[in-house]
Amino acid sequence: MEGAAIRAVNLGMVYRSGEADLAVFVGLNFEVARGEKLALVGESGAGKSTLLHLLGGLDRPTEGEIYFGQKDICKLSESGLADFRNREVGFVWQIHSLLAEFTALENVMMPLLIRGVRKEAAEPVALARLEEVGLHNRAWHRAGELSGGEQQRVVLARALAGDPQVLLADEPTGSLDYRTGEMIMDLLEDLHRARGLTSIHVTHNLNFAKRADRVLRLDRGSLETAYV
Ligand SMILES: Nc1ncnc2c1ncn2[C@@H]1O[C@H](COP(=O)(O)OP(=O)(O)OP(=O)(O)O)[C@@H](O)[C@H]1O
Ligand SMILES: [Mg+2]
Repeated sequence: MEGAAIRAVNLGMVYRSGEADLAVFVGLNFEVARGEKLALVGESGAGKSTLLHLLGGLDRPTEGEIYFGQKDICKLSESGLADFRNREVGFVWQIHSLLAEFTALENVMMPLLIRGVRKEAAEPVALARLEEVGLHNRAWHRAGELSGGEQQRVVLARALAGDPQVLLADEPTGSLDYRTGEMIMDLLEDLHRARGLTSIHVTHNLNFAKRADRVLRLDRGSLETAYV
């Protein structure tokens, strides 16, 4: 459909582990408009991370289709999917996703190096991203030596290193105190607007969810609009 950045059709995920199958959700249908800021809420275990992983091409659904524009990412080969992840989506997980022994700059450069950009070309881009998140003065600090809020800003800079259209964030403020969490939310919003991103973020915090254009709740396998 026109304007939809992401469209899921009959999306289902069943984990097969040992004897019992676990159907996290089946038959989900939804769209995310280009430029929309969507919050995803739901109880622990509802399947929010699972859904985000599927949308980001980190895992494949057991049924259904996921369109980014006209392209069904579920039909991509393994290398096609790796390329999709590297170029089209930015991931913001919790802070422990950084490489602690590497500098902030090296962490931000990583997605560019992975796609074959030379170090000399990747470095100025990574520095510009660190500047966007207000952290250029920490570029040469090891990630493990930064505060929680600073680390999360590095994660944001890294997510944006490759100029993705879509930003997926799984509890980006989960391990931060409230004020630092708010700062990260402000920054996410600024970047969303300035870069014209399509953003989906999972949160347990309804105050943060309220700031989105739309809130969806995942509950017992179905996805409904939530009015928080
Ligand atoms: N790789 C896996 N193999 C088997 N089951 C899994 C796997 N990953 C997740 N699950 C199960 O799927 C369900 C949904 O998990 P998921 O992590 O998506 O929940 P969530 O909504 O993100 O929860 P939380 O808010 O606690 O992060 C859970 O019951 C979980 O145990
Ligand atoms: Mg989760």
